[in-house]
Amino acid sequence: MIPPVHDPHSFSRPDEASVKHLALDLRVDFEKQQLSGTATLEIDNHSARELVLDTNGLAIDRVARDGRPAAFSLGDAVKFLGRPLTVSIEPDTKSLAIDYASSPGAAAVQWVAPEQTAGGKHPFLFTQSQAVLARTWVPCQDSPGVRITYEAVVRVPRGLLAVMSAENPTATDADGLYRFRMPQPIPSYLLALAVGDIAFRPLGGNSGVYAEKPVIEAAAWELADTQKMNHAAEQLYGPYRWGQYDILVLPPSFPFGGMENPRLTFATPTILAGDRSLVNLVAHELAHSWSGNLVTNATWNDFWLNEGFTVYFERRIMEAVYGRNYSEMLARLGMQDLEQTVDELGKESRDTHLLLDLQGRDPDDAANKLAYEKGYFLLRLIEESVGRAAFDAFLRDYFDRHAFQSMTTVQFAAELKKAFPSVEIESWINAPGIPANIPVVKSDAFEKVEDQVRAFQAGAPMQTAKWSTHEWIHFLRHLPHPLTPEQMAKLDADFHFTASGNSEILHEWLLQAIENRYRPAYEALERFLLRQGRRKFLKPLYEKLAKTDPERARAIYAKARPTYHSVSRGTIDGILKWS
Ligand code: BES
Ligand code: ZN
Repeated sequence: MIPPVHDPHSFSRPDEASVKHLALDLRVDFEKQQLSGTATLEIDNHSARELVLDTNGLAIDRVARDGRPAAFSLGDAVKFLGRPLTVSIEPDTKSLAIDYASSPGAAAVQWVAPEQTAGGKHPFLFTQSQAVLARTWVPCQDSPGVRITYEAVVRVPRGLLAVMSAENPTATDADGLYRFRMPQPIPSYLLALAVGDIAFRPLGGNSGVYAEKPVIEAAAWELADTQKMNHAAEQLYGPYRWGQYDILVLPPSFPFGGMENPRLTFATPTILAGDRSLVNLVAHELAHSWSGNLVTNATWNDFWLNEGFTVYFERRIMEAVYGRNYSEMLARLGMQDLEQTVDELGKESRDTHLLLDLQGRDPDDAANKLAYEKGYFLLRLIEESVGRAAFDAFLRDYFDRHAFQSMTTVQFAAELKKAFPSVEIESWINAPGIPANIPVVKSDAFEKVEDQVRAFQAGAPMQTAKWSTHEWIHFLRHLPHPLTPEQMAKLDADFHFTASGNSEILHEWLLQAIENRYRPAYEALERFLLRQGRRKFLKPLYEKLAKTDPERARAIYAKARPTYHSVSRGTIDGILKWS
């Protein structure tokens, strides 16, 4: 058994009474921008007199215990965490029904206007609960260490389809009434809902894709390798335990690349490059079906157990499906991300330890590449120290033994020590910066790219035939500084970067454009910032533009801000000191 762990980001006290099952009955009102209805909670009660739940911006109308009103109170609001909802219960209370409504500003929820959808006719809604936003639309014990099964009845406007992180419908119901069931226990940050003019296409096996109708064919083509990835994943770390694995391609304001909502990954449409070159995102979210969703970080301080493991697993899937040369390119780009992140945070910064201390802070502060890439390189170091076969056996056993449980960094370290006594991870977990024993990644493909950067500098002809997206990214990241307007124009004329339909390549190019004040790309920059809301792209672009051309940054943001999800808005507000 795992000893109870204190989660600094939840008011709940699951060791006294824990919620085991949630039954939601929700109405989705696009006019009022409100989710309202009843959450019925089944409780495992250890003779407690109080049940404490997390809420943030919820209006609580009534709480009932066995059909009779129960006394409840909402405590004071705490920054980032919302308000504790304390309900008085009897030592034998097993169930509570809470009538409630979300606020129009609920941070998890984005009410997407028809103009911001691909179809342009119907509104769209999606939620993003990680890390502590589930409490803005469901009263719950909002801690990754608490697991619930759930069911839901959701009423939506006629003509729209609703999907959740659960067993899903594949066709529109004439009355807009949908029922859901999630039989495996999940932490609250994996509660998810989307509503829109959504279609479904099977991809074969246990996979399919959901997307707005105008996007569905492109999405199905782009994601055709999903089954191969699932097969590779199962070969590595054991059975996929969630039944179906579908992907929902969202409108472009989705603030992340992807979100591993169980049975239904949520994904940005910016991965639809037309050449399947950005599908490592699917490998990543699929990998979370083991690292994260099956074995879950106990608190957000242990975030690297979710993301570092997942990046490691993602690259193993990519290696199995597309080969080592491909996955080594991803690892090299990851190393660059790690170096840049450590530079930004400071190499002595407490936030560069793998085991974080987020007490009193927004767990979203940790949503940078540190946990991902420092975590990845630690696992790769272990693999290289003990050998792949031994490490794979360890990981497979780890996922089996801890399936549907949470895990702390301390417990992982203890288990690793037991299996491999000679491996030292302390200097990775409880120390800052990039440890000296970080593995070396060698990519022949990227060395050739660097030759071409030199050719470009010398004004010599360049060989770029058959370059993949990742080679272009590496090239753009390694251009000399500064570039003259003539050099920028030459690059653009030769390779058409400003017109690129590949979001990753366009993003790297636009960074160069801002850095070098290359005006011909500014219209494309504005369009990109207005067209999509993925924080990973927005943040560096606004940061750079705020330095070179703050007026322009603010003018674009004034137009774009209403179209962004709260998660992206929060970050860009901070950069531009918007209020
Ligand atoms: N779970 C994360 C997204 C997330 C992290 C949401 C922290 C809220 C707080 C997801 O699995 C993720 O890592 N997405 C990446 C994908 C990439 C690493 C392939 C993203 O969105 O960029
Ligand atoms: Zn992830």
